[in-house]
Amino acid sequence: MNDQIRQAVLQLKAGHLVAIPTETVYGLAADANNSEAVKKIFATKGRPSGHPLIVHVAMPNPSSGSESNWGAVLGQWSRDVSPEALVLAEKFWPGPLTMILPKAKNVLNEVTGGQETVGIRCPSHPLAQHLLNEFGGGLAAPSANRFGRISPTTAEHVKDEFPDSDLLILDGGPCAVGIESTIVDLTRLDSEGAVVLRLGAISRDQIHAALSQINSQRHLSFAQSSSDQPRVSGSLSAHYAPRTKMLLYPSHGLNQSSQGFQLDLKNFSKIAWVHFSGETINPAVQQKIVEEFLIPNNPTKLAKELYALLRKLDKLSVDLILFESLPNDSSWDAVRDRLGRASVGSGI
Ligand code: TXA
Ligand code: MG
Repeated sequence: MNDQIRQAVLQLKAGHLVAIPTETVYGLAADANNSEAVKKIFATKGRPSGHPLIVHVAMPNPSSGSESNWGAVLGQWSRDVSPEALVLAEKFWPGPLTMILPKAKNVLNEVTGGQETVGIRCPSHPLAQHLLNEFGGGLAAPSANRFGRISPTTAEHVKDEFPDSDLLILDGGPCAVGIESTIVDLTRLDSEGAVVLRLGAISRDQIHAALSQINSQRHLSFAQSSSDQPRVSGSLSAHYAPRTKMLLYPSHGLNQSSQGFQLDLKNFSKIAWVHFSGETINPAVQQKIVEEFLIPNNPTKLAKELYALLRKLDKLSVDLILFESLPNDSSWDAVRDRLGRASVGSGI
């Protein structure tokens, strides 16, 4: 065990918080079986209590067949591990998928927000797995940012969020995925099927394809939920937000011939412009541009860079961020979702 991991285990066992890298974003972790420790997460983030947390678990012991082992891992947190849950664990874990399952009796109310369900994820980041193994229990962890703000994708971002605390931050480098996990609710399989609560790197189609492999009819009503979204803070319409006002403009909406997008320029003197290459802009707007960023025309690459870019933009002291809208194609759904919420919550 290296020194950093040993230190982190000691902190967690003593009921303190530790910031941990995952492949999606950094998490603010506490022992999921220690209610006092879990309460510190809410206090540190400024997160309203009642918002449930994801329990992060280690990979199963590889000694016997992996599917039955996922059952043992999930059975510690859920009283009813469905075949659908086992298939999704087998297919996507360790990785950026969170499953909502009926909770086991022993799961703390502080973790579930008092609900009968629990969110569980097995992250793939090697440092997170190493820590989970050495710790030997589940870690409740939301993203390691102040409530409503941009999720951190590097150790420096975590430090920027909590500059005055002596929080131990495990540095696992920049997160490979860059946006939060896909969340799928498997607690209403009989009535609604598998319900995606939050989009991430694993798409609806991938989940659908995996569930189609099993001989079950109940996944067929697969749909994006709207009914209980307040339970998922990442689904509040304003979230992941920079403090600088950010407007999404339609592609080509700023060129000279465009009538579509009206921007009241007199309100802004310094503008940062973020766009795909090839976009042109009219001279009246151009005059006020003080910084320009080109973004990759690839949703996976942009997801990885997005939060670091939003943080950088927020530090420029411009009064407006003009961000070209992302394509409507479904492969952009997850990153378009985050950018949309960031713009709704911006400037507040
Ligand atoms: O990628 C991720 O999921 C990251 C990393 C750290 O694992 N975590 C993360 O946690 O994004 P957080 O708390 O920022 O977002 C998790 C979302 C919350 O909005 C929460 O409401 C929802 O998951 N959630 C957790 N347990 C739930 C439950 N039992 N039912 C419904 N939603 C749940
Ligand atoms: Mg979050």
